[in-house]
Amino acid sequence: MPATNPIWGELDSLLERRQAEGLDRHRKCWVPRSPRLIVSDDGCSLLHFGSNDYLCLGWNREQESSAAPEVSGYCNSGRYGAGASPSISGYTPDHAALVSELALLCGAEDAVLFPSGYSANVGVVSALAGETDVIFSDRLNHASLIDGCRLSKARIVVYPHGDLVELEKLIRTYRNQGKRGFVVTDSVFSMDGDLADLRRVVELCEQFDLTAIVDEAHATGIYGPQGGGLVQHLGIGSDRLVKIGTLSKSIGAIGGFVAGPRVLIRWLVNFARPYIYSTSLPIPVVQFARRSIRLLREMERQRVQLRESSFQLRATLREHGHRVGGGDSPIVSIYASGVEAVVGWSLRLRERGFYVPAIRPPTVPVDSCLLRVSLNLSHTEEDLRMLVEACRF
Ligand SMILES: Cc1ncc(COP(=O)(O)O)c(C=O)c1O
Repeated sequence: MPATNPIWGELDSLLERRQAEGLDRHRKCWVPRSPRLIVSDDGCSLLHFGSNDYLCLGWNREQESSAAPEVSGYCNSGRYGAGASPSISGYTPDHAALVSELALLCGAEDAVLFPSGYSANVGVVSALAGETDVIFSDRLNHASLIDGCRLSKARIVVYPHGDLVELEKLIRTYRNQGKRGFVVTDSVFSMDGDLADLRRVVELCEQFDLTAIVDEAHATGIYGPQGGGLVQHLGIGSDRLVKIGTLSKSIGAIGGFVAGPRVLIRWLVNFARPYIYSTSLPIPVVQFARRSIRLLREMERQRVQLRESSFQLRATLREHGHRVGGGDSPIVSIYASGVEAVVGWSLRLRERGFYVPAIRPPTVPVDSCLLRVSLNLSHTEEDLRMLVEACRF
């Protein structure tokens, strides 16, 4: 068929330009062999430092064999898809049980499920904030929070990453430009792996009549005595907090959730569009997530161990002259001087038997290209030692 639609030609030349800038993304097939090993498209087995399944619960074989009717009478019904959105008929006893378990995990009155963490972020911010409101947003927030802010049509004030002194100044200047006010932040930043100073964020919210919307995607399972997240870890109890999480990282499944006061959840059930207009999570996914949460609550020793190894890895990389992100989360970022450098480093690591993804714009600003090393419980001390050795570029 002759090509007549000019849009395809236009897109093609834009993609060519992107490729020339080293920013093109294309799909590669990876075969996961274990939490520790992944096989690349050219058949090489690599040590896997590119997964968010920090506690390896996405692999838990014990979970599969214990697909027990005790979890729910629906286990053996043969039903996979929920068949409808939650407000029609897609909210089953399994979904309700998971909601209660998530509320308990986060120490909240209630919770609500979303199809993904992405849609939870978009849905919450756009349901709570509107054109008459103001949002203060960390510069390095996850794309889904940024998209939620844009969709809300609120006035958006971006503050420099983690700079709460500057945030306070901006709040003093712009707070009165919105009726409702929000501070929106990741708790563990998804690419840099550092932590937000949530105590100070909440203090500012209390002082200036704001609500904090906190994305705990990478903190759930990793922080808090029961894995409830960084808010739990820091012992912050404030009704100025809205906690968002995902089932896709430490819980090893898929789906997003929000935990908070009953009235918040009621509001979201009525106004969060990704909740209302998407089909509920598949039932086996919900059951899998429930079993992960049960295991995760008891994994305090492993949480501490993972954070200690992450902290130690940062220290060792620094001793070797690398510029490394702060904190003790399992996301260890190694900064490079630009797109070419970071892509080159990632390729060299691959040749040396390690998979460590290169993170480039638009995911991070051009001055913050980084190698994102994700640790999980399957990595041994020897794996980390070999990784540091391989990072001599
Ligand atoms: C901080 C953060 N929030 C939200 C998301 C989106 O979560 P999900 O993958 O469950 O849609 C991610 C995932 O990349 C993330 O890193």
